[in-house]
This record gives sequence, structure tokens and C-alpha cells, in this order.
Amino acid sequence: MTAAGTPFVPPPYPYERLDRFKPYGDEFEGGLIDLSIGTPFDPPPAAVTAALSSSNAERSYPPSIGTPALREAIVRWMGRKFDIDIGPDHVAAAIGTKEFVGTLPQWMRLRTPDRDTVLYPAISYPTYEMGATLAGCRAVPVPMHPGGGLDLTAIDPADAARALLLWVNSPGNPSGILDDLGAAADWGRAHGVPVFSDECYVEFTWQGRGRSILEHGTDGVVAVHSLSKRSNFAGARLGFYGGDPDLVHYLREVRKHVGMMVPGPVQAAGVVALDDDEHVEVQRHRYVSRLRLLTDVFERWAGVDVPMPGGAFYLWFEVGDAWAFAERLAREGGALVSPGDFYGAAGARHVRVAVVQPDDRIALLAERLTATG
Ligand SMILES: Cc1ncc(COP(=O)(O)O)c(C=O)c1O
Repeated sequence: MTAAGTPFVPPPYPYERLDRFKPYGDEFEGGLIDLSIGTPFDPPPAAVTAALSSSNAERSYPPSIGTPALREAIVRWMGRKFDIDIGPDHVAAAIGTKEFVGTLPQWMRLRTPDRDTVLYPAISYPTYEMGATLAGCRAVPVPMHPGGGLDLTAIDPADAARALLLWVNSPGNPSGILDDLGAAADWGRAHGVPVFSDECYVEFTWQGRGRSILEHGTDGVVAVHSLSKRSNFAGARLGFYGGDPDLVHYLREVRKHVGMMVPGPVQAAGVVALDDDEHVEVQRHRYVSRLRLLTDVFERWAGVDVPMPGGAFYLWFEVGDAWAFAERLAREGGALVSPGDFYGAAGARHVRVAVVQPDDRIALLAERLTATG
């Protein structure tokens, strides 16, 4: 939180701090292999991109909450995936989930002006904390169990009493942990704190099936999803949220006033993407084989333990001095990865490797590291 009266100065964007390592990539045939940002490089299905250009939806303003067709497709997907039916009135669109995460604390604070605290996982996607800061709220990290997951017993009752919301993220970025969403929902209900469950990696769950907090009822909880990862659609910007009727209604209404609108053609293409599961299966195989390959490569090259994650498309492993590791990898392998302090001070001894590059680029990295290792 910024102290009252102190102007807010945006900090450097985390990934821009890696720019100084990029020239190392020029030394290699094939150039830099960027495994830092979790941005998909594989294509979305052809039918989805075709729908973008043929929807006729570009001439009018699109509904902020999402077209009926989009909301019905969301409900159909949730029914197939989680065996739940929350109805199209209890879901709504977002312009990708980053803007939802980054602006949510402002709206929650307007709804509950006597509270000022956002609780979020101590090692996590940086926008949970930044959203709180931008709203002038207190951002309070929740410690995590050694194997992952929120340690809900560690939340100070004084912070719980001031909490506008609790974030949970499963599968989690950066570590791929699978959290206990039922326990998070129970904690929120017991303490009167809305729980927002970021489930944008749910299609990429490797241990067991993908789960939603909404399987534990909708009371006091909202699930947040994205087509960025599921359908390699990050450039189009389409996310959505759904759950507790009162919370969703409030957010739908307030977000209309700010012009939070997903472009019409993107909404139309989203229907095609959500109704298709085959391309997700193809993508799942790509990620699993890349994770397996690079697990072996990094274990051999760095002599460290690299566990397979429970979900998501990141390798997250302890290396000690993460910035030194990132620099050595850039120098010796021409590859860029993220030092763990991007995701909170508690992650400072780890690095995150996003296996987002196409298979030939991943194979090239494997070749380079096998040659030097
Ligand atoms: C945990 C988590 N939530 C949300 C997002 C934002 O995704 P998008 O805005 O593309 O939906 C990301 C992106 O990396 C993420 O890792």
C-alpha cells in the first residue's frame, strides 16, 4: 500500500528486468529462447480464428457482461468440465483475467468500504498484490505449506476481519501446486470473506482431474477463467468469471460503467473455442512432453531436483541464487527464465521455466544444454 499522500510510482514491470540478459541469445545460432513469460506460442484452432473474421459483431458495442451465446457456452463448458450448472446469469466476461485481477480490489472496496485488505498466496502471480496496491488497499500475503497450498491457519484474525477478499490459485502460477479449494471456500464462509479462485490453468492439471471451487457451491465464491491458456487465445483477450449470484451481479453492474467490454468478434470466437475440447487435448500433450523433456535436461545440466508440477505449464525448482542461475542459463544456453522473486520474496531461491515455446525451440534448448552440461 502507498502511504497516504505519497504519489504512486509504478515499479519496473517484472519481465523488463530480464532485458539485460537478452543479448546473450544473439551469440547462439537460432537466437534467444524465451521461457520467461507464460504466453502461449502454439496456435488457436483454425475455426476460432475463422470465427474472429466472420462474426459480423464488430459494428455494434458488445455487451460488457458477455453475449448470451458466450455466457451459454461458458455454462456448457463448466457443465462438461466440472459437472456444475450455475446458469448464464451468474457468469460474465472479462477482457482477459489480468484486468479482472488487477481491478477487482477497487470494486470490492466500493462494495465494502469499511474493509481494506486483500489476502493472496505468498508465492503467486504478481497482479494479485498489484491490484491491491492500485486500489490503495493493504496486500497481505498468506504463507504457503512447504509442498504448496495456502496455510489458512496462518492468517491473522485481524487481517481476516479487514479482508475484502482472498485469492486462491490452482493449479498455481508459478509452482503448479494444486490447492484445496474446498478448504478455501470453507475458510471464506467461516470468516465472511469472499474467495476468488483463479482457475486459468485448470485444463492443464496433471495430477487427477481439473477442479473448480464452484464444485463446493457458489455461496461466497467466484471462479475466474481464461481462454488465454486453454485455447492459446491470449492475444484476443477473453476471460470470464462466475459463481456467487450477489458478487457476480455487483461486478457485472460496476464493470459496465467502466466500459469493460470484450470485442464482439472475440466473444463470437470464444463460443467456438469453448465448445471444442479436442484442441485442448492436443495442447495438453504438447505441454506434458515439454515438461518431461526439460525436467530431465535441467536436472542433468544444473544438478538440481526438478519436480513435475501438479498442473500448469511451468517448471519451478530451487537453485539457490536465482538471478545468477538465470544469467548462467542465458550465457550458456541462450535462454531466458524467470527468477522466483518475481512471484514474491518467498520464491527468491527458485526459478520458473515456462514451456511455452514450440517443440523445435524446446528441442534446440535441450541440444544446447546437453552440449554444455
Ligand atoms: C495465475 C494467472 N492468472 C491470470 C493470468 C492472466 O491471464 P489472461 O489475462 O491472459 O487471462 C495469468 C497469466 O499468466 C496467470 O498466470
